[in-house]
Amino acid sequence: MLSERTIEIIKSTVPVLAKQGTEITSHFYKRMLSNHPELLNIFNHTNQQKGRQQTALATTLYAAAERIDQLETILPAVKQIAHKHRSLGVKKEHYPIVGENLLAAMKEVLGDLATDEIISAWEEAYNEIANVFIELEQRMYADAENMEGGWKDFKPFVVVDKVKESSVITSFYLKPKDNAVLPSFLPGQYVTVKVKIDGHQYLLNRQYSLSDAPGKEYFRISVKREAEPDQPKGVVSNYLHDDVQIGDELNISVPAGDFTLDVTQNSPVVFISGGVGVTPIMSMLNTIAKENPSRPVRFVHSAKNEDVHAFRLEVKELMNRLPNGTSFICYTEPSRQESANHTGYMTKDILKQFLSENADYFICGPVPFMKAVINYLKELGVASENIHYEFFGPALQIAQP
Ligand code: HEM
Repeated sequence: MLSERTIEIIKSTVPVLAKQGTEITSHFYKRMLSNHPELLNIFNHTNQQKGRQQTALATTLYAAAERIDQLETILPAVKQIAHKHRSLGVKKEHYPIVGENLLAAMKEVLGDLATDEIISAWEEAYNEIANVFIELEQRMYADAENMEGGWKDFKPFVVVDKVKESSVITSFYLKPKDNAVLPSFLPGQYVTVKVKIDGHQYLLNRQYSLSDAPGKEYFRISVKREAEPDQPKGVVSNYLHDDVQIGDELNISVPAGDFTLDVTQNSPVVFISGGVGVTPIMSMLNTIAKENPSRPVRFVHSAKNEDVHAFRLEVKELMNRLPNGTSFICYTEPSRQESANHTGYMTKDILKQFLSENADYFICGPVPFMKAVINYLKELGVASENIHYEFFGPALQIAQP
């Protein structure tokens, strides 16, 4: 239990730290990674370079600190992060490393402002917050290892098929090298893929949604080649596309994540995806087709054009198996005469057609797309508890729309 005085110090210093937040956490990362370069085997180097991880950690820590006397209220957000930590192999022993470097960074950036009293209050608060993560993650590790077909951390899988889904998205079908049964997972979950790439000193980790239903003898991930003109080329996605072939091995975590569909429900479900955000939705759609095909389903998808539009035929085929299913496709930049239901961006009027009472809405796609869709749905009167979404990349960096 923290003392009244500690709580008071924490709450009064959050605004000061929040102002300096990214400066402190950027300094903290540099400090921690130079003292513990082995952690570069866990952290996503691109997210580091773009400052995404720094912002995510800072935002979360300050949000937690603001509620230091009622930490149970941050549990839903912690759960999402804990899933990610567990899928990456973040362990109990890593927390003191983060804590020590964070406090040292606070001192170094704030100078005289960081009195001994403030630093020791933050040490106590950090430990309280870290314990919430550690406890949850310990349970997740035990579940991952003890579930049927589960394993500890990472295990080798063999690529048994590689299928091009569009000009930019390719699916990889993965079977465990030890031929063990696969664990079940919830549609919408992802795995972490850990790779060693020639020329890179450290291991690289990426999360990819499982894009097929559970209960198959393989896992399927569908990866977009990240190669936008003004962006750094995606190291791992390009490696998977160009260098990983059928027969090669990839190290995979047990599925994780809480952006999931309860397939046993019969209420209408509306899927709204943009680009490669379709991947977790494909798992949800395939699972409904397999396990609850009479459920009312609306599949709304936005892609640039037909060339980059993945799973076109698979969705068509799935719709044939869903008597109460319909699909609607938007192309934002059609390159020729193409058969979409709408040309241009998703609009509020389009979404209005798909509203239905008691429906749940599952949204996944690029950040601006998701922000727009979530705002439209709210404006159309959809309750927040019926809107489910997953941002690709560090989640809490983005103010919740
Ligand atoms: C991801 C917060 C401790 C390693 C994240 C994210 C947040 C976060 C908000 C982004 C979640 C997402 O992508 O959805 C925190 C907080 C911590 C903590 C508040 C302490 C209380 C740790 C520790 C480690 C760690 C001890 C390991 C040394 C990572 C890694 C990611 C991550 C590797 C994935 C993101 C990336 O590499 O870009 N954490 N974290 N975190 N965290 Fe933590």
